[in-house]
Amino acid sequence: MFDINNILRNNIKNLVPYSSARDEFQGEASVFLDANENAFGSPLQTAYNRYPDPMQYQVKMKLSQIKGVPARNIFLGNGSDEAIDVLFRSFCNPGVDNVIIVPPTYGMYQVSANINDVEAKKVLLTEDYQLNLEGIAEAIDKNTKVIFICSPNNPTGNSINRDDIETLLANFTGLVIIDEAYINFSRQKTFIQELTEYANLVVLQTLSKAWGLAGLRIGMAFASEEIIEVMNKVKPPYNINEASQTLALEALANVKQVNDWIKETLEQRDKLVLALKEMPFVVDIYPSDANFVLVKTTNATAIYDFLVNQGIIVRNRTNVELCEGCLRITVGTSAENIKLIETLQQYK
Ligand SMILES: Cc1ncc(COP(=O)(O)O)c(C=O)c1O
Repeated sequence: MFDINNILRNNIKNLVPYSSARDEFQGEASVFLDANENAFGSPLQTAYNRYPDPMQYQVKMKLSQIKGVPARNIFLGNGSDEAIDVLFRSFCNPGVDNVIIVPPTYGMYQVSANINDVEAKKVLLTEDYQLNLEGIAEAIDKNTKVIFICSPNNPTGNSINRDDIETLLANFTGLVIIDEAYINFSRQKTFIQELTEYANLVVLQTLSKAWGLAGLRIGMAFASEEIIEVMNKVKPPYNINEASQTLALEALANVKQVNDWIKETLEQRDKLVLALKEMPFVVDIYPSDANFVLVKTTNATAIYDFLVNQGIIVRNRTNVELCEGCLRITVGTSAENIKLIETLQQYK
């Protein structure tokens, strides 16, 4: 049985969080002389002289409406990368605890583990990029606090079998973090509706991909109220700046635009795949549930260098285990994809 007290770090259990000026005041007021801000304004068109809402109430209310998850089950981070770091700092004792990652996968789990001095035990995905459940079961020990699953997975593009994820959720007594950064492009359904079913579930999503707001740095974690409370205690008080909160709120009113782009991206992905299949140096194209495709080639580094020389940047993943010879190509606009294809047609 999952019990948050069994995995929470003692220093976090006992932590008295920073109390900001605005946390300590409730009600109406017109004169704010409590936070040592500049009372005159900002040297800008828009005033940013006041600290932002530390709990991002309005953005969460809007997200709650869109996602069908109560605001109290939502954490916002400075990108989902911050949510990943906050989870390490909340649950993993440096030098003692470990997490399980399943490469090839998103690189920040390992980097965040290294920063926090937490061992990341690697259990490779199978040849078809699915979970090795037996390997994971063997790797779990009494200090294993978290398992990271990325679905759809970066860099492979495929979704992880739902039944396998549910097996972990039902049997693992630590946290199962499902990173759904690319879920908007996927045929599979999100896990955020399962929060009431699994107390150990954390779902990560982001406004950086389908929502087109990578520059604003807003990531989301969806989890039980008790997990979200811990994360809110550990995060820096004003982790989402005022400009990001305002602009995110504006953007979240444009669901239709985002859905149109998702549709367009998927159409462009299909076209790109068809064109790539014709290339003599393409060995395989892996099925994608994301806005990128992983392409196995005869010589990834040579093709990568050739493209760089033509001003086109893709991601060379050839040095990643199980991705030998692979390039990861993000789906661009129609014009960008045509340029890529026409350039690749000149590669000898
Ligand atoms: C799987 C995955 N998770 C998280 C992120 C980072 O998201 P954010 O921009 O919200 O920090 C990325 C970015 O590439 C990603 O591929």
